[in-house]
Amino acid sequence: MRTDSQLSTLLDELHRHGASHDAGKPDRLDRLRNLEPDTAALLALLVRAVRARRVLELGTSNGYSTLWLADAVRDTGGRLTSVEVDPDRSAQAAANLERAGLRELVDLRLQDAADALAQSADAAWDLVFLDAERPAYPAYWPQLLRVLAPGGLLAVDNVLSHAGEVAAFRELVATEPQVSEALAVTGAGLLLVLRTGAPPPR
Ligand SMILES: C[S@@+](CC[C@H](N)C(=O)[O-])C[C@H]1O[C@@H](n2cnc3c(N)ncnc32)[C@H](O)[C@@H]1O
Repeated sequence: MRTDSQLSTLLDELHRHGASHDAGKPDRLDRLRNLEPDTAALLALLVRAVRARRVLELGTSNGYSTLWLADAVRDTGGRLTSVEVDPDRSAQAAANLERAGLRELVDLRLQDAADALAQSADAAWDLVFLDAERPAYPAYWPQLLRVLAPGGLLAVDNVLSHAGEVAAFRELVATEPQVSEALAVTGAGLLLVLRTGAPPPR
C-alpha cells in the first residue's frame, strides 16, 4: 500500500501524462479525457462524506478518477466497480491501480455502461460517477434512477464544458420528483443528483 504522499505523486504524474497525451490528439475519442484534479478531489470527498460503500464508475479511461475513487472507498470500507469499453484503457487502469496499491479494491470491467446499469439490482449503488459518452446519458436516466439507493448520489462531469450536449439529460433530472440536484462549478462542471428518500440505517 502506498502512503498518501506517494499516491499524490502518482496522481500528479497521471494528470500530467493525461494532459500531454491529449494535447497531441485532435480526435476527442483518442484522448484520455481525465477528470480535472479539483473535481476528482471533490468527488472523493463526497464518497467519504456520504460514506458510500458501493460505488460505480461509468467510464474508466486509464483510471485517473478510478484511483481517486478507490482511495476514498478504502476509507469507507467499500468497493468500486468501474466499467470501460476500451480494452487498452482498462488494462492501463489496472496497471495504474496496481502501482497505487489499490487494485484489490476495484472490480474493473470491460463492459458497456448501459449493460452495467441494466445488470445492476434496484438501489444497488450509493454513488454513481457518470463520465462516458454524453449523448447516451438520457437513455441511461431511468436505469440510473432505479439503481441509485435512496440517499445515493449521482455525479456527472462536463455539464458546464459541454452544456449543450447534456441539456436533454439535465431536463430529465430537473423534472424528476425523486431527486434534487446541485451544480458544483469546479473543473468542467460537476452535476450532483441526490436520490431522495431515507437511506438504510447504518
Ligand atoms: C471522459 S473519459 C473517462 C475519464 C475517466 N473517468 C478519468 O477521469 O480518468 C470517457 C471514457 O468512457 C469510455 N466509454 C465511452 N462510452 C462508454 C460506454 N458506453 N460504456 C463504458 N465506457 C464508455 C471511453 O472509452 C473513455 O475512456
